[in-house]
This record gives sequence, structure tokens and C-alpha cells, in this order.
Amino acid sequence: MKNNVMAACFAACLSFSLPAFSDDGATLYASRGCIGCHGAGGNAPVAPNYPRIGMQNKEYTVNQLTDYKNNKRSNGLAALMVGMVATLTEEGIQELAEYLSTKIASSASGPVLAGDADLYVEKNCIACHGANGNKPVMNAYPRIGGQSEMYLLAQMKDIKTGARNNSHTLAMKNAMGNVSDSEMATIAGWLSKQSQ
Ligand code: HEC
Ligand code: HEC
Repeated sequence: MKNNVMAACFAACLSFSLPAFSDDGATLYASRGCIGCHGAGGNAPVAPNYPRIGMQNKEYTVNQLTDYKNNKRSNGLAALMVGMVATLTEEGIQELAEYLSTKIASSASGPVLAGDADLYVEKNCIACHGANGNKPVMNAYPRIGGQSEMYLLAQMKDIKTGARNNSHTLAMKNAMGNVSDSEMATIAGWLSKQSQ
């Protein structure tokens, strides 16, 4: 009896979920191989310099995937991403970004060093990225708390030099003039320990 009920439910549920199945963000995330580098839910990257992409603002993620696709973001390890997004449709990009925006990281948390937080505030990062890096003032701005330390540092340097100049990076470039390499490293270390 129980088996019959389960079989009936399975068949019914399947027929309801099938239409959305093919372009669903979670399905695309697995079928397009994103999981191979960014890990479960986008938050278990396989290398220390790969970014966490789960729980990211949807609009920010849409902009980044579109820019990789159009070769507008070419700094750092962008070459690894270009092939991944080449055949994604605009709709597929929206679905992936929507899916990723709902994923919460579990492992990023740790002690907060007051002095380092001071630097984050003093250099005015907080004006755009908000408390702990995770309250950005616009949806097109990224969440950066709990992000990989190596990735954070590489992106800060590239935005400062202009090597990364896609989407809204210009807003930040102007604020980086008085932030030294060692200050960037300190802030990256602090940010990476914030809960996501
Ligand atoms: C071969 C490994 C690899 C695969 C597969 C891969 N990525 Fe990436 N991804 C990276 C790396 C490395 C970066 C950082 C690149 C850089 O330095 O700009 C990145 C960057 C990103 C970013 C930008 C993150 C940010 O904070 O700006 C997004 C979004 C992203 N990937 C989504 C995806 C999606 C969606 C897929 C599947 C369609 C995917 N990635 C497949 C390695 C990969
Ligand atoms: C005037 C606003 C503004 C200020 C101030 C600012 N940022 Fe940003 N930041 C941005 C925007 C906007 C982006 C995303 C650019 C894009 O659209 O690709 C960004 C991107 C980043 C990234 C890359 C994130 C990723 O996932 O690739 C890091 C890291 C970062 N900011 C750190 C900082 C730090 C640290 C400070 C302070 C020293 C700072 N930002 C100050 C607006 C700002």
C-alpha cells in the first residue's frame, strides 16, 4: 500500500516538475559542470583561489556571467570561465544566478579581530559593501564576507590597477588609491573570516 502511494506520488510529482526541469538553475549548475570547480551550492570551491559564488546577489552574478560571456571580464583566471558560459542563454544565466543567490555557506566563520575591522571601516569599504562585507548597498554590488582570501586579494589588486574593469568596478577603483598592498592583504584576511 505504502509503495503504491509512493509510486503514484512519484509519477505525479515528476510530471509536474518536468517542464521546469531542463532550465532550472540547480540542474544547470550540475549539468554545466559548475559544481566541478565551485562545489556544492557554489560554496565549496576546489582550489583556494577559486571564489565562493553561493549566496551572492543575483544582479551581481548576472552581470559577471554576462561579462565573462562577452569577454569584458578578462583578469585573473577568467579564461577558466569563458568557455563555461559561452553557450549559456540569457535565461540560463538568470536561472543560475537565482539559484546561487539562495545558497548559504556553512563553513565561513571565525574570530573577528577588531583592529582589522577598523581598517575595513577606515578605508570606506563599508560604504559600499556594508557590515562584514555582506550588506552591499546595491544589488549589483557583491557580497564579499566569507569569500576566499586569495580570491579577494587578487580581485582587489586587479580592480585597483584596472586589470579588472568590467561592470561597476570603476566605482570601486576610485576608492582604492589610498589602499596599499599590505592593507589589502589585512582586509582580505579579515573579510574571509566573516560569516557569509
Ligand atoms: C574550471 C573551473 C570552473 C568551472 C567549471 C566554473 N567556474 Fe566559475 N570561476 C572559476 C574561477 C577560477 C573564477 C574566478 C576567475 C577570475 O579570476 O576572474 C570563477 C568565477 C566565477 C564567478 C564570478 C564570481 C565573483 O565573485 O565575481 C561566477 C559567478 C562563476 N564563476 C559562476 C560559474 C558558473 C555558473 C559555472 C557553470 C556554468 C562556473 N562558474 C564554472 C572557475 C570555474
Ligand atoms: C564606491 C563603492 C565601493 C567601495 C568604496 C569599495 N568597493 Fe569593492 N566593489 C564595488 C563594486 C561595485 C564591485 C563590483 C564590480 C563589478 O560590478 O564587477 C566591487 C567588487 C569588489 C571585490 C570583488 C568581489 C568579487 O566577488 O569578485 C572585492 C574583493 C572588493 N570589492 C573589496 C573591497 C574592499 C576591500 C574595499 C575597501 C578597501 C572596497 N571593495 C571598496 C564597490 C565598492
